[in-house]
Amino acid sequence: MQKEQILSFLNTYTDPCYIFDLDELSRRFLMLQQTLGDEITLCYAMKANPFLVAPLLHLSTKYEVCSPGEFAICEKEHIPMDRIVLSGVNKEERELKRIMKTYGSACTYTVESLHQFYLLKSLAAQSNKTISVLLRLSSGNQFGMDEHTILELLKTWNNSDFLHFQGIQYYSGTQKKNLNRQEKELMHLDDFCRQVQQETQMIVEELEYGPGFYVPYFEKEEDADDIELLKGFKKILSNMNYSGKITLEMGRYIAAYCGSYLTKVIDTKVTHDAHYCIIDGGINHINYYGQAMAMKLPHIQYYPVSAEAIPDNQENKLKNEPEESKSPVTWNICGSLCTSGDVLVKQYPQSQLAIGDYLLFERLGAYSVTEGIYLFLSRDLPQIYFYTADNGFSLVRDSLPTHNINCCTAH
Ligand SMILES: Cc1ncc(COP(=O)(O)O)c(C=O)c1O
Repeated sequence: MQKEQILSFLNTYTDPCYIFDLDELSRRFLMLQQTLGDEITLCYAMKANPFLVAPLLHLSTKYEVCSPGEFAICEKEHIPMDRIVLSGVNKEERELKRIMKTYGSACTYTVESLHQFYLLKSLAAQSNKTISVLLRLSSGNQFGMDEHTILELLKTWNNSDFLHFQGIQYYSGTQKKNLNRQEKELMHLDDFCRQVQQETQMIVEELEYGPGFYVPYFEKEEDADDIELLKGFKKILSNMNYSGKITLEMGRYIAAYCGSYLTKVIDTKVTHDAHYCIIDGGINHINYYGQAMAMKLPHIQYYPVSAEAIPDNQENKLKNEPEESKSPVTWNICGSLCTSGDVLVKQYPQSQLAIGDYLLFERLGAYSVTEGIYLFLSRDLPQIYFYTADNGFSLVRDSLPTHNINCCTAH
């Protein structure tokens, strides 16, 4: 999506909105698949951005799905069930029953605890289906089970008992800055898979691993050479003794770059020498991982649409000064909420900024669209647009009021 496309889109702007560039999404997905090779299966962790579930369908991805709500989105988008890995620490019995009854043994399930193991086993038995499961190995938190528990479980496993042991799932966290962490984890997983096979005689057919690749969100961070990074990662994989299938589950690294958030400047002022810019969006809509008290500068495109409409005297004074005498103006970009915490960026350098201008916050395709504090102040949810070069912008969800949610619904 080029600047000209955004400029023409501004004519139709009514509300703060996310724009997901589906060409960029496909480009990135294909870059990943081609660099890693077809022997690697990619699994999209849909928590990163549920709006991208359907656009990724043609790219032969699997989906990691973690809640009944996420599952319902997949049903709505007609995602084939054999592409779903049903994950999460709270697998609800009622929902599992419904899924098994409706879709048989098509999904793969992760097992996060002994309780989940026995629950899945008994439900599979009740529906007389054999389901495939991945046992989640813990990285030292509430997710998954430790090595000892998994080994003991597998020693008494009977594959004919309605659960087919497919393999191991492992995810330890996001935003890993270099490959050292992944290398250490994969070496440990390699050892563990060997131990499983030696001590339990069970075959690890699949290793589903979440690498948690890093996305640089802020101006001062260096952009990684993705191809080099992925080649380095592939080399680590090829050094493993494990020879089964490898699936990489990831969200941020697939989705981040395709998303932007567009918002309009609705007020500007100078208070005690500090420049404040108020936008029609805010932290109820947008969230940058690692944005420490708004001190870091994200990638922002500036669209000065109405430079003449500046009511503020200070700004007019600045405008009339000769170019060279202007000191650079930096802004606190604040949202529309009634909290002093609603600051998106401090010290945004933009001498010309004025009411009516637009700011496009970049690299927001992952997590941000669902991580804002959406219900605070009962403001509307943002619009969601898809963009492709062939079809232009299409509104896929209009802005939605939240006041209906923030009030009693039973009288
Ligand atoms: C189990 C699991 N897999 C994959 C992911 C995706 O992680 P990332 O966005 O860092 O790729 C997450 C994120 O929380 C997760 O919990």
